Amino acid sequence: GTIAVPVSPHACQRRTTLNNRNRLFTDALNILAENAELSENEGPYLAFTRASSVLKSLPYNVTKMDDLKGIPNLGDHSRKLIEEILEGGTCNEVQDLIQNVRYQTLKKFTSIFGVGVKTADKWFKEGLRTLNELRASTIKFTKQQEAGLLYYEDLILPVTKVEADLIKQIIEEAVHRFLPSAIITLTGGFRRGKEYGHDVDFLITHREEGREEGLISKVISWMTAQGIILYDDITDNSYHKWKYKESETFDRFAKCFSIFKLQKMVHNLEPGRTCSHGSLAANETRGIGLAGHAGSPRHLTATAAKDKDWKAVRVDLVVAPFGQYAYALLGWTGSRLFERDLRRYAKHFGHMILNSHSLFDNKQNTFLLAATEEEIFAHLGLDYIPPQERNA
Ligand code: GTP
Ligand code: MN
Ligand code: MN
Repeated sequence: GTIAVPVSPHACQRRTTLNNRNRLFTDALNILAENAELSENEGPYLAFTRASSVLKSLPYNVTKMDDLKGIPNLGDHSRKLIEEILEGGTCNEVQDLIQNVRYQTLKKFTSIFGVGVKTADKWFKEGLRTLNELRASTIKFTKQQEAGLLYYEDLILPVTKVEADLIKQIIEEAVHRFLPSAIITLTGGFRRGKEYGHDVDFLITHREEGREEGLISKVISWMTAQGIILYDDITDNSYHKWKYKESETFDRFAKCFSIFKLQKMVHNLEPGRTCSHGSLAANETRGIGLAGHAGSPRHLTATAAKDKDWKAVRVDLVVAPFGQYAYALLGWTGSRLFERDLRRYAKHFGHMILNSHSLFDNKQNTFLLAATEEEIFAHLGLDYIPPQERNA
């Protein structure tokens, strides 16, 4: 017979490729996780996310409950859901949820760039249900939310790998104008091998530490002058102000959350597809008409024009000093759960504090330097997991 290899409860000790053999279950669990997140129930959110993630890592299709023997991270609720789907193909709780108006509305509102759960919930409680109701309301939007509404129809479309590579070329040209030997790396989901993303993430560095300082504002200014930038929000590096031993999700690198104006290529049009998290919102605003339509007093519908030759795309740019580059690369490659479990593993099993800048060893009271991701995994006592296997 075969010897069963135990499945680790830590995502950072599992190899999770994009070949998910249990999508029927993970899709259902993800909906429950999403609903918990939209209700700010952190515990259930994590439980369903971990259950979904462990199923993604299995090298076989689950066809009977017996297949789940010894699999960690599956609580009673998750096991019941799997059992129900095994018996009847669907899960009632999930079917009810996707019909639920609060779930639908909060999912739609949080799919707007700049809108989090708290804001979406507030708008829902005020009786707002559709994007056009938001647009017609007297709500005071942030600049980010205004851009989110203005380019909504484009931003819910998935970004393709071809578009990501095109944006990489544009950024390389801009960055090399100011810093010829700067290194630009595609991170996030595309580095994990995904064919589609909700945005494109880049990490920028230079071998001579210090040369990267001030780069981001120069690059954004130049690209703005070229008409490439529709929205930008630059944050300066604030690492010096940080209590550096904290393990935070958010880092202190110089960065820019932006929206690019990407000239459309003939072959990258995919009208039928939408992002996984934007699918519910897709039809609602179709057919609004041109920017400045009567139903949009504040001109928040620029991307409704069907014949325009460009597409708005979300781009994240992060600039790291060379000494922190490996940590930044690891931190910005994801997935979100993989990152979370890396930090948790570092803390509980290594007595170390991991963030996107550094790894601090509490026992030796020292920072552990690393030039590569492989060295970071080694510091943590973990087998190296390549980006393509971090799709936890
Ligand atoms: P899609 O973009 O949806 O295709 O997936 P993705 O995995 O690329 O997600 P996203 O772009 O949201 O994030 C990429 C990685 O960067 C993830 O691992 C996140 O945890 C991480 N990340 C995102 N925003 C921040 C941030 O503000 N600070 C830090 N340190 N990490 C971030
Ligand atoms: Mn991304
Ligand atoms: Mn991103």
